Amino acid sequence: MKSLLVVLLAAGSLSLSAAGITGTKHDLSTNALAGQAHTNTTQVCVFCHAPHNAASSTAQLVPLWNRKFQGATPSFTLYSSATLTSTPTQPTGASLACFTCHDGTTSVGNLINIPSDVASISYTAGGNVNASGVLGGAAALGTDLSNDHPVSMTYPTKTGLVVPTVAGSTSNVGGLPLFSSKVECASCHDVHSNAVAAPFLRASMTNSALCTTCHIK
Ligand code: HEC
Ligand code: HEC
Ligand code: HEC
Ligand code: HEC
Repeated sequence: MKSLLVVLLAAGSLSLSAAGITGTKHDLSTNALAGQAHTNTTQVCVFCHAPHNAASSTAQLVPLWNRKFQGATPSFTLYSSATLTSTPTQPTGASLACFTCHDGTTSVGNLINIPSDVASISYTAGGNVNASGVLGGAAALGTDLSNDHPVSMTYPTKTGLVVPTVAGSTSNVGGLPLFSSKVECASCHDVHSNAVAAPFLRASMTNSALCTTCHIK
């Protein structure tokens, strides 16, 4: 019993240290993963959040958002199909936020507030990120979403879809969060962690478990 407890505690502390964003592809600090792009700051959260003077009002796509697009907010080509019940809109909130890096145009260091330990952000290329800090390859979804799982649509009531659990003003499907009742990129992905499954997934893809959390198939 005692040795089981020790094993459980050890496993618990291991998963705790593996749970964070540090040492994942979303760690753009000087401590980034070997071979991945990095910058000259030791800060990790600053690439997405700031404690003060963050984006305000509608530009605050997610809590305390510290990013902006390189130019105007892009216009996206949306997924459509004859069998779809919901209506995807132009990406909102926890989807639009992703495109401030994954659009393939905006550099990872295009921040509202620069971290206090550097005068300006400089980049070292790596992975799919070039020397200007811009994503390419499979990481750059671009603005054509017609071949991607739909996002920014209200989760419909439909035969073949699990019914969401509503608690107060929030809802989730089998623990996968909906944002104002919508499916967003962050419904399937947790940008902060690979602890459940890479790449930043909120449920495992073994036996397509992620998919069957929402789809009764
Ligand atoms: C690559 C961008 C990115 C980085 C880096 C990042 N976050 Fe986030 N964060 C997000 C997004 C997107 C959301 C909204 C979606 C969600 O809740 O998962 C969010 C939501 C949150 C929330 C509110 C929801 C919740 O889960 O409680 C907190 C708190 C948070 N982040 C803290 C942090 C901290 C602390 C760090 C650094 C250790 C960090 N984040 C780094 C993108 C990021
Ligand atoms: C601060 C910029 C930034 C933001 C914001 C951001 N990402 Fe990323 N993301 C990256 C970088 C950099 C990579 C690594 C690209 C590479 O080298 O392949 C990456 C990679 C990924 C990967 C692939 C990971 C892997 O192991 O292959 C996923 C999945 C991902 N991001 C999802 C998201 C989602 C979903 C959001 C929004 C909720 C988001 N990201 C927001 C910068 C960002
Ligand atoms: C319905 C769930 C779901 C949604 C919604 C979703 N993703 Fe993914 N995403 C996945 C899965 C699953 C993978 C891994 C695919 C694989 O490895 O076979 C993935 C892979 C990725 C990758 C790695 C590169 C690639 O193409 O394999 C990136 C980057 C990414 N997603 C970003 C995003 C962004 C940005 C959004 C919102 C526009 C988003 N995802 C919405 C499930 C989703
Ligand atoms: C968070 C819940 C959720 C997850 C997880 C999820 N989906 Fe979906 N998916 C939806 C919703 C909602 C729709 C829109 C259904 C509609 O409007 O008819 C959808 C639409 C689709 C469609 C298009 C249906 C059509 O009629 O055009 C396909 C195909 C699909 N999902 C496959 C997948 C696969 C494969 C996975 C796993 C990689 C997955 N989904 C994960 C919620 C989810």
